[in-house]
Amino acid sequence: MSGVTGKVVAITGASSGIGEATARLLAERGAAVVLGARRRERLETLVTEIRDRGGRAVAGVTDVTQRADLDRLVQRAVEEFGQLDVLIGNAGIAKLGPVAEGDVEGWSAMIDVNVRGVLHGIAAALPVFRRQGRGHLVTTVSTSGLKIVPGQAVYAGTKNAVRTILEALRQESTDGVLRTTTVSPGFVRTELADSIDDPAERERTQRRFEEFALDPAAVARAIAFAIEQPEDVEIGDITIRPTVQN
Ligand SMILES: NC(=O)c1ccc[n+]([C@@H]2O[C@H](COP(=O)([O-])OP(=O)(O)OC[C@H]3O[C@@H](n4cnc5c(N)ncnc54)[C@H](OP(=O)(O)O)[C@@H]3O)[C@@H](O)[C@H]2O)c1
Repeated sequence: MSGVTGKVVAITGASSGIGEATARLLAERGAAVVLGARRRERLETLVTEIRDRGGRAVAGVTDVTQRADLDRLVQRAVEEFGQLDVLIGNAGIAKLGPVAEGDVEGWSAMIDVNVRGVLHGIAAALPVFRRQGRGHLVTTVSTSGLKIVPGQAVYAGTKNAVRTILEALRQESTDGVLRTTTVSPGFVRTELADSIDDPAERERTQRRFEEFALDPAAVARAIAFAIEQPEDVEIGDITIRPTVQN
Protein backbone atom coordinates (compact mmCIF):
# COMPACT_ATOMS: atom_id res chain seq x y z
CA MET A 1 0.00 0.00 0.00
CA SER A 2 1.48 3.37 -0.96
CA GLY A 3 0.11 6.83 -1.59
CA VAL A 4 -2.31 8.67 0.62
CA THR A 5 -5.60 7.53 -0.92
CA GLY A 6 -7.49 5.05 1.23
CA LYS A 7 -5.30 5.47 4.29
CA VAL A 8 -6.86 6.18 7.67
CA VAL A 9 -4.98 8.92 9.49
CA ALA A 10 -5.60 10.12 13.06
CA ILE A 11 -4.24 13.57 13.89
CA THR A 12 -3.89 15.17 17.31
CA GLY A 13 -3.90 18.95 17.50
CA ALA A 14 -6.13 19.00 14.42
CA SER A 15 -8.17 22.05 15.46
CA SER A 16 -5.68 24.64 14.14
CA GLY A 17 -2.35 25.31 12.49
CA ILE A 18 -0.28 22.41 11.19
CA GLY A 19 -2.76 19.72 12.28
CA GLU A 20 -5.67 21.45 10.58
CA ALA A 21 -3.70 22.04 7.36
CA THR A 22 -2.57 18.41 7.36
CA ALA A 23 -6.13 17.17 7.83
CA ARG A 24 -7.32 19.25 4.88
CA LEU A 25 -4.51 18.14 2.58
CA LEU A 26 -4.69 14.44 3.42
CA ALA A 27 -8.48 14.41 3.08
CA GLU A 28 -8.18 16.15 -0.29
CA ARG A 29 -5.78 13.42 -1.36
CA GLY A 30 -8.20 10.67 -0.41
CA ALA A 31 -7.33 9.76 3.18
CA ALA A 32 -10.01 9.28 5.85
CA VAL A 33 -9.04 11.58 8.72
CA VAL A 34 -9.83 11.21 12.41
CA LEU A 35 -9.39 14.53 14.15
CA GLY A 36 -8.51 15.05 17.81
CA ALA A 37 -8.11 18.22 19.90
CA ARG A 38 -9.90 19.89 22.81
CA ARG A 39 -11.90 22.56 20.92
CA ARG A 40 -15.01 20.68 19.78
CA GLU A 41 -16.45 23.49 17.65
CA ARG A 42 -13.28 23.95 15.64
CA LEU A 43 -13.14 20.22 14.97
CA GLU A 44 -16.77 20.05 13.95
CA THR A 45 -16.40 22.98 11.54
CA LEU A 46 -13.39 21.29 9.95
CA VAL A 47 -15.20 17.95 9.62
CA THR A 48 -18.09 19.71 7.89
CA GLU A 49 -15.74 21.52 5.49
CA ILE A 50 -13.91 18.32 4.58
CA ARG A 51 -17.16 16.40 4.04
CA ASP A 52 -18.62 19.24 1.94
CA ARG A 53 -15.65 18.79 -0.38
CA GLY A 54 -16.31 15.07 -0.67
CA GLY A 55 -13.74 13.99 1.92
CA ARG A 56 -14.07 11.53 4.81
CA ALA A 57 -13.60 12.87 8.35
CA VAL A 58 -14.74 12.32 11.91
CA ALA A 59 -13.67 14.08 15.08
CA GLY A 60 -13.44 13.29 18.76
CA VAL A 61 -12.68 15.70 21.57
CA THR A 62 -9.24 14.64 22.76
CA ASP A 63 -6.98 15.92 25.50
CA VAL A 64 -3.63 14.26 24.81
CA THR A 65 -2.65 14.48 28.47
CA GLN A 66 -5.32 11.84 29.12
CA ARG A 67 -4.30 8.35 28.05
CA ALA A 68 -7.93 7.20 27.69
CA ASP A 69 -8.61 9.99 25.18
CA LEU A 70 -5.93 8.62 22.83
CA ASP A 71 -7.27 5.09 23.21
CA ARG A 72 -10.68 6.47 22.25
CA LEU A 73 -9.33 8.37 19.23
CA VAL A 74 -7.55 5.29 17.89
CA GLN A 75 -10.63 3.16 18.56
CA ARG A 76 -12.77 5.68 16.68
CA ALA A 77 -10.58 5.27 13.60
CA VAL A 78 -10.92 1.51 13.70
CA GLU A 79 -14.68 1.62 14.32
CA GLU A 80 -15.44 4.21 11.63
CA PHE A 81 -12.98 3.20 8.95
CA GLY A 82 -11.87 -0.35 9.85
CA GLN A 83 -8.20 0.39 10.44
CA LEU A 84 -5.58 2.97 11.46
CA ASP A 85 -2.68 3.45 9.07
CA VAL A 86 -1.09 6.58 10.51
CA LEU A 87 -1.12 8.43 13.81
CA ILE A 88 0.18 11.99 13.64
CA GLY A 89 1.15 13.08 17.18
CA ASN A 90 1.05 16.78 16.49
CA ALA A 91 -0.60 18.46 19.50
CA GLY A 92 1.84 20.80 21.19
CA ILE A 93 2.23 23.93 23.27
CA ALA A 94 5.16 26.34 23.64
CA LYS A 95 5.59 27.94 27.05
CA LEU A 96 8.74 29.77 25.99
CA GLY A 97 10.86 31.86 28.32
CA PRO A 98 14.25 31.88 30.04
CA VAL A 99 14.88 29.03 32.48
CA ALA A 100 15.63 31.62 35.18
CA GLU A 101 11.94 32.60 35.20
CA GLY A 102 11.30 29.26 36.92
CA ASP A 103 7.99 28.68 35.17
CA VAL A 104 7.51 25.22 36.68
CA GLU A 105 3.84 25.18 35.72
CA GLY A 106 4.61 25.94 32.08
CA TRP A 107 7.38 23.34 31.99
CA SER A 108 5.03 20.71 33.40
CA ALA A 109 2.33 21.63 30.91
CA MET A 110 4.80 21.23 28.02
CA ILE A 111 6.01 17.88 29.34
CA ASP A 112 2.39 16.73 29.71
CA VAL A 113 1.29 17.75 26.21
CA ASN A 114 4.46 17.52 24.11
CA VAL A 115 5.98 14.36 25.62
CA ARG A 116 3.34 12.48 27.60
CA GLY A 117 0.77 13.29 24.90
CA VAL A 118 2.91 11.67 22.19
CA LEU A 119 3.60 8.66 24.43
CA HIS A 120 -0.13 8.20 25.03
CA GLY A 121 -0.61 8.12 21.26
CA ILE A 122 2.18 5.59 20.80
CA ALA A 123 0.73 3.35 23.53
CA ALA A 124 -2.72 3.53 21.96
CA ALA A 125 -1.66 2.96 18.35
CA LEU A 126 1.07 0.32 18.64
CA PRO A 127 -1.20 -2.64 19.48
CA VAL A 128 -3.41 -1.76 16.50
CA PHE A 129 -0.40 -1.44 14.19
CA ARG A 130 0.97 -4.79 15.40
CA ARG A 131 -2.41 -6.46 14.86
CA GLN A 132 -2.64 -5.05 11.35
CA GLY A 133 1.00 -5.80 10.54
CA ARG A 134 1.35 -2.20 9.39
CA GLY A 135 1.40 1.31 10.85
CA HIS A 136 3.11 4.68 10.74
CA LEU A 137 3.84 7.11 13.59
CA VAL A 138 4.50 10.71 12.59
CA THR A 139 5.27 13.42 15.15
CA THR A 140 5.74 17.15 14.86
CA VAL A 141 8.89 18.11 16.72
CA SER A 142 10.80 21.33 15.97
CA THR A 143 13.98 22.98 14.74
CA SER A 144 14.10 24.30 18.34
CA GLY A 145 15.63 20.94 19.21
CA LEU A 146 18.18 21.14 16.39
CA LYS A 147 19.44 24.71 16.81
CA ILE A 148 19.45 25.37 20.54
CA VAL A 149 18.58 28.99 21.35
CA PRO A 150 17.97 30.90 24.61
CA GLY A 151 14.35 31.11 25.73
CA GLN A 152 13.36 27.73 24.28
CA ALA A 153 15.21 25.38 26.66
CA VAL A 154 12.37 23.26 28.01
CA TYR A 155 10.30 23.42 24.82
CA ALA A 156 13.32 22.19 22.84
CA GLY A 157 13.94 19.54 25.52
CA THR A 158 10.43 18.15 25.11
CA LYS A 159 10.85 18.02 21.34
CA ASN A 160 14.22 16.28 21.62
CA ALA A 161 12.78 13.81 24.11
CA VAL A 162 10.26 12.81 21.46
CA ARG A 163 12.98 12.67 18.79
CA THR A 164 14.97 10.29 21.01
CA ILE A 165 11.98 8.10 21.83
CA LEU A 166 11.06 7.72 18.16
CA GLU A 167 14.61 6.83 17.16
CA ALA A 168 14.78 4.11 19.83
CA LEU A 169 11.34 2.85 18.80
CA ARG A 170 12.52 2.74 15.19
CA GLN A 171 15.47 0.56 16.15
CA GLU A 172 13.22 -1.69 18.22
CA SER A 173 10.83 -2.10 15.28
CA THR A 174 12.81 -3.19 12.25
CA ASP A 175 10.54 -6.13 11.46
CA GLY A 176 8.79 -4.08 8.78
CA VAL A 177 5.59 -3.39 10.71
CA LEU A 178 6.20 0.14 11.95
CA ARG A 179 7.43 3.29 10.22
CA THR A 180 8.40 6.35 12.28
CA THR A 181 8.84 9.91 11.08
CA THR A 182 9.76 13.08 12.96
CA VAL A 183 9.00 16.35 11.22
CA SER A 184 10.96 19.38 12.48
CA PRO A 185 9.39 22.64 11.35
CA GLY A 186 10.99 26.05 11.80
CA PHE A 187 8.69 29.06 12.17
CA VAL A 188 5.18 28.30 10.90
CA ARG A 189 2.33 30.82 10.98
CA THR A 190 -0.13 29.18 13.40
CA GLU A 191 -1.81 29.89 16.72
CA LEU A 192 1.17 28.51 18.65
CA ALA A 193 2.26 31.96 19.84
CA ASP A 194 -1.03 32.20 21.78
CA SER A 195 0.26 29.47 24.12
CA ILE A 196 3.30 31.58 25.10
CA ASP A 197 2.74 33.34 28.45
CA ASP A 198 6.01 35.33 28.56
CA PRO A 199 5.05 38.66 26.88
CA ALA A 200 8.51 39.29 25.37
CA GLU A 201 8.76 35.78 23.91
CA ARG A 202 5.19 35.94 22.62
CA GLU A 203 5.81 39.28 20.93
CA ARG A 204 9.09 38.07 19.41
CA THR A 205 7.47 34.89 18.07
CA GLN A 206 4.45 36.75 16.71
CA ARG A 207 6.76 39.17 14.89
CA ARG A 208 8.63 36.27 13.27
CA PHE A 209 5.34 34.63 12.31
CA GLU A 210 4.30 37.85 10.57
CA GLU A 211 7.65 38.52 8.93
CA PHE A 212 8.71 35.22 7.44
CA ALA A 213 7.00 32.11 8.83
CA LEU A 214 5.87 29.26 6.58
CA ASP A 215 2.26 28.63 5.72
CA PRO A 216 1.17 25.48 7.63
CA ALA A 217 0.26 23.90 4.27
CA ALA A 218 4.01 23.59 3.58
CA VAL A 219 4.42 21.34 6.62
CA ALA A 220 1.31 19.40 5.60
CA ARG A 221 2.95 18.63 2.23
CA ALA A 222 6.07 17.36 4.00
CA ILE A 223 3.96 15.07 6.19
CA ALA A 224 2.06 13.82 3.14
CA PHE A 225 5.40 13.06 1.46
CA ALA A 226 6.40 10.77 4.33
CA ILE A 227 3.01 9.04 4.37
CA GLU A 228 2.75 8.47 0.61
CA GLN A 229 5.98 6.45 0.34
CA PRO A 230 5.74 2.71 -0.32
CA GLU A 231 5.62 0.57 2.83
CA ASP A 232 9.28 -0.41 2.57
CA VAL A 233 10.41 3.23 2.55
CA GLU A 234 10.69 5.04 5.87
CA ILE A 235 11.27 8.77 5.88
CA GLY A 236 12.94 9.17 9.27
CA ASP A 237 13.33 12.92 9.67
CA ILE A 238 12.22 15.96 7.75
CA THR A 239 13.47 19.45 8.60
CA ILE A 240 11.44 22.20 6.99
CA ARG A 241 12.01 25.89 7.66
CA PRO A 242 11.58 29.22 5.92
CA THR A 243 14.50 29.80 3.54
CA VAL A 244 15.40 32.99 5.41
CA GLN A 245 15.34 31.49 8.93
CA ASN A 246 18.75 31.52 10.60
N1 LIG B 1 4.25 27.02 14.62
C1 LIG B 1 5.54 26.78 14.66
O1 LIG B 1 6.36 27.67 14.39
C2 LIG B 1 6.04 25.41 15.04
C3 LIG B 1 7.39 25.11 14.82
C4 LIG B 1 7.87 23.85 15.16
C5 LIG B 1 7.03 22.91 15.71
N2 LIG B 1 5.72 23.22 15.94
C6 LIG B 1 4.88 22.17 16.53
O2 LIG B 1 3.78 21.92 15.68
C7 LIG B 1 2.73 21.34 16.44
C8 LIG B 1 1.42 22.02 16.05
O3 LIG B 1 1.45 23.36 16.49
P1 LIG B 1 0.95 24.58 15.60
O4 LIG B 1 2.13 25.39 15.28
O5 LIG B 1 0.06 24.11 14.53
O6 LIG B 1 0.16 25.43 16.72
P2 LIG B 1 -1.38 25.62 17.04
O7 LIG B 1 -2.08 26.25 15.90
O8 LIG B 1 -1.42 26.28 18.36
O9 LIG B 1 -1.90 24.11 17.18
C9 LIG B 1 -1.66 23.36 18.33
C10 LIG B 1 -2.70 22.25 18.38
O10 LIG B 1 -2.46 21.45 19.54
C11 LIG B 1 -3.70 21.28 20.21
N3 LIG B 1 -3.50 21.03 21.63
C12 LIG B 1 -2.88 21.78 22.56
N4 LIG B 1 -2.96 21.21 23.76
C13 LIG B 1 -3.64 20.04 23.60
C14 LIG B 1 -4.07 18.99 24.45
N5 LIG B 1 -3.81 19.01 25.76
N6 LIG B 1 -4.75 17.96 23.92
C15 LIG B 1 -5.04 17.92 22.61
N7 LIG B 1 -4.68 18.87 21.74
C16 LIG B 1 -3.99 19.93 22.25
C17 LIG B 1 -4.51 22.52 19.92
O11 LIG B 1 -5.89 22.23 19.98
P3 LIG B 1 -6.89 22.53 21.20
O12 LIG B 1 -6.46 23.82 21.83
O13 LIG B 1 -8.22 22.61 20.50
O14 LIG B 1 -6.77 21.34 22.07
C18 LIG B 1 -4.11 22.79 18.47
O15 LIG B 1 -4.94 22.04 17.61
C19 LIG B 1 3.11 21.51 17.90
O16 LIG B 1 3.60 20.28 18.40
C20 LIG B 1 4.23 22.54 17.86
O17 LIG B 1 5.11 22.41 18.94
C21 LIG B 1 5.21 24.43 15.60
